Parts: sequence; structure tokens; C-alpha cells
Amino acid sequence: MSGPYKAVKVTDNVYWVGAIDWGIRDFHGYLTERGTTYNAFLVMADKITLIDTVKPPFRQELLGRIASVVDPKAISYVVSNHAEMDHSGSLLEVIDLVQPEKVFASSMGSRALKDHFHLDRDIVAVKDGESLSLGNLSLTFLETRMLHWPDNMFSYLAEERLLFSQDAFGMHLATSERFADEVDVSVLEYEGAKYFANILLPMSPLVTKLLEKVGNLGIQIDIIACDHGPIWRKDLDRIIGWYGSWARQQPTMKAVVAFDTMWFSTAKMAEAIAEGLLAGGAQPKLMPLKSNHRSNIATEILDAGALLVGSPTLNNNMYPTVADLLTYLRGLKPQNLVATAFGSYGWSGEAVGQIRKALEAMKVEVVDDGLRVKFVPGDDALTQCFELGRQVAEKTKELCGRG
Ligand SMILES: Cc1cc2nc3c(=O)[nH]c(=O)nc-3n(C[C@H](O)[C@H](O)[C@H](O)COP(=O)(O)O)c2cc1C
Ligand SMILES: [Fe+2]
Ligand SMILES: [Fe+2]
Repeated sequence: MSGPYKAVKVTDNVYWVGAIDWGIRDFHGYLTERGTTYNAFLVMADKITLIDTVKPPFRQELLGRIASVVDPKAISYVVSNHAEMDHSGSLLEVIDLVQPEKVFASSMGSRALKDHFHLDRDIVAVKDGESLSLGNLSLTFLETRMLHWPDNMFSYLAEERLLFSQDAFGMHLATSERFADEVDVSVLEYEGAKYFANILLPMSPLVTKLLEKVGNLGIQIDIIACDHGPIWRKDLDRIIGWYGSWARQQPTMKAVVAFDTMWFSTAKMAEAIAEGLLAGGAQPKLMPLKSNHRSNIATEILDAGALLVGSPTLNNNMYPTVADLLTYLRGLKPQNLVATAFGSYGWSGEAVGQIRKALEAMKVEVVDDGLRVKFVPGDDALTQCFELGRQVAEKTKELCGRG
């Protein structure tokens, strides 16, 4: 009995048996405004194989979808491409129920799974490039270390020209459609970019290398079965091309102005700076932290050329939301950005210097000492803000020209 859940056929031998999480909004600090999916796949080979599992609360959905195709106990092999809980969280229950002959993971993955679940059974560690016969079909494993954990790997089903790509090429997007060609392209581009900016950005150079490596292997890929969001079966060049350009972080004249404010002085500064940016040929995008989540700001920075961060001074410090943003961005290591700091203060005014230091630690190109204005900015101060915007636009033009 499979209950209400049905598998979705991807190819002659591969079924989607994942789960749709419509309600999730916080994925380790990332605002998942459109929910997500945890994709798992059933390969109906002689040795029936399950690729990945799902987040623990969705175990019944996974098992139900499997049961709509085959008795779960008929599964011989389980492959874990990634040890993070959104894909491995149901592994123990699946093992208990299915009693598979073997469970496979990369060498780092087998250790990471042990550290998560303290299993008393063996996880077979596979090597980069190793192939596994499933009888009539075969899987080849390709390590993608540090994309985005040490354990990640791809599994390639040559006979179906299908790449199980785990987190890569995926996005947090819950839809009733299972395939990317059924979804609006602008939604795919935004959510794909958001995923890249918030998860893969620090590993951009590795993404570029991986794309080269896969290109050099000369393997044919007709389908990318990723672990989040829709499956790619048409226009694969689209998502692969996006990954190439996101990984390059090519700067544009877009200037992200992120700030918070208590009594709107810093907000007034941000608006005057935006006018200067515009006059200098940049496209300012104002993102007040009261109405913009850190992960949406990270997304906008992906194709920006400038980042301007503003904060009032509160008890000798930058505003807590600004510290949150800078901590988050520091980890994501955005590159190819001109940056500066600004803010209003009353007496000691530490915030701007603190932001400047944080920007320097991010190794972006910090211009100017940053601009501090005492209490409410008057006309002179607003003119200075305008000039700062114009100066940042000039520097951004230079940066774009260098690329
Ligand atoms: C609770 C509180 C604490 C403050 N602490 C400081 C401080 O330590 N040093 C300082 O220079 N200004 C401090 N200020 C003054 C603000 O930085 C000043 O009012 C500024 O103009 C606020 O900018 P905003 O309108 O963008 O919020 C404090 C203000 C408040 C309300
Ligand atoms: Fe992950
Ligand atoms: Fe994931």
C-alpha cells in the first residue's frame, strides 16, 4: 500500500520519489520564500537502487512514493550523495525497513554518515571515477569535494545519460511541477541564483573547475536530477551557463545599498547616496534591513559591482542587523565588489569604522574611509552623501572595465 503518494517517472528506469516542503521558510538562515523539495530517486535496475533520502519529517512521503513503484524491501542498494540531513536524515529508517545489501557514499561521505548516525553497519566508500554495476545499468561516481561539504559526490547513470547532482544545479523551490521546463524561467533564474549566492558562492573557484572537469570527461548529460527543486531535462545549457557566470562573479553597475536605521538619518543618507550612484551611472538597489532578509541581499550582490553598508551607532556599536549581514556575507566571500560604509551617529560614532573593518576583512575593494554624519543630515551632509555615491559609481566603472 503506497497511500496517497505517487512517484513521478523521469526516464524509463528512474523515478522521482522525493518530498515537497511547501511551508519551510528558514533553511539554516536562508529565507526559503517559496519552500523547497528534497528529491530522492529510485533506479529500477536489476539491483534496485535508491539515490538519497529526505529530511526526517518527510520519511513517509518518500516511502509512499517508493511503494507506488515497488515494495521498498526490494531495494538492493542505497547511494548517499551528500551527508547533510536534508538528504540523509531518513537514512536510518530506510535502512531499518529496506535492509539493503549495501549502502554507498564517497570516502568522506561514509565517515560523515558515521558521525551523524553512529551506524553499526558498513557504508561502502566509493572512489572518484569508480563505477558500480546495477546489473543492466551502472552508476559512476564523481567526487565534488567541498561543493558544498567535503563528502559531496555526483552519481552518473550512463545508460540514461542522467546525472544525480545532489545540491548542485538545484534551488529551494516547492512546485507541483517536477521539471524545470514547466516552470517560469525568471523564477528558475532567481531561485537558482539565490541558491548559488547563499550556498555555493564561497566555492566559486571550485564550481568553475568542476564545470571544466565535467566538460573534459566528455560524458553526455541529458538530464540533471538535482536534490532541490525541479529536474532539468531540457535546455541544460541554461543552468550550466548560469553556473558558469555566477561562479565568475562578473561585476556590473548594480550597487547594493544595505542599511538599517533607528530615526531615519542613516536612511536619508542612503537615499542621497543612491542619487549620487545614479548620477554616476550606477543602478542603486536600496535594501533596508527592516524589510530585506540577509539571504536576499546576498542574492542581489551576486551580480552587483558595489556594496554600500550603512548603520547608525548604537551603544558604541553598529546596529545588530548590520552585524548579522556582515557576518553572513563574510562567510560567503563575495568577490569583485567595490565597497564602502556610511552612517549617522550622535557622539562617539563607531559604527562606520567597524563596518569598514568588516568590509576589509571580506577582501572586497574598500573605497573611501566611509562617511559619518552627526545626527540628522543637513544639506551639506546630503551633498557629501551624493558625492560618495558618485565616487563609488566611478570606482565601479573602473572595476567593470578591468573585467
Ligand atoms: C539606544 C541608543 C544608543 C545610542 N548609542 C550611541 C553611541 O554609543 N554612540 C553614538 O555615537 N551614538 C549613539 N546613539 C545615537 C545615534 O547613533 C543617533 O541618534 C543617530 O543619528 C541615529 O541614526 P538613525 O536615525 O539612522 O537611527 C544612540 C542612540 C540610541 C537610540
Ligand atoms: Fe547540502
Ligand atoms: Fe541540500
